[in-house]
Amino acid sequence: MKNITIYLFITAAIVALYGFAFTIASEDEPVGKKLFLENKCNMCHTVKLAGIESKKSDATELKNLDETKTTEFWINYLKKKEKLNGKDHKTAFKGSDADLQKIVEWLITVKE
Ligand code: HEC
Repeated sequence: MKNITIYLFITAAIVALYGFAFTIASEDEPVGKKLFLENKCNMCHTVKLAGIESKKSDATELKNLDETKTTEFWINYLKKKEKLNGKDHKTAFKGSDADLQKIVEWLITVKE
């Protein structure tokens, strides 16, 4: 009898935790978008499709990134290890590779 009670309690706890985590995940913005803002990419870039507006008047809008380029390429481009059309990116990303990967993975989904 005691075992059944423990079993039921654990099951209920798992269900409750799962529901809780799911609620948080679905309400939040994409991680990549948050990191984009945290890393101040919006100083120079507008992402209209995601509701991000730069204050800079000549900000480049980011959308429909070149699909022939890989995630790897974009990561290296943003670390200034790779050029795009013969040009370096303006700044070199200072954060972690993991963060940069999340930003890029989000950015390539911004399409119209
Ligand atoms: C100091 C200004 C500045 C900051 C900060 C900045 N960028 Fe840029 N970025 C530029 C400029 C300038 C270009 C070149 C735009 C052009 O092609 O005319 C560019 C180009 C790009 C491109 C290529 C767009 C394309 O397809 O031509 C991507 C992707 C990009 N930036 C992502 C980012 C991300 C992600 C961040 C934040 C980690 C960031 N940028 C921060 C200035 C900036």
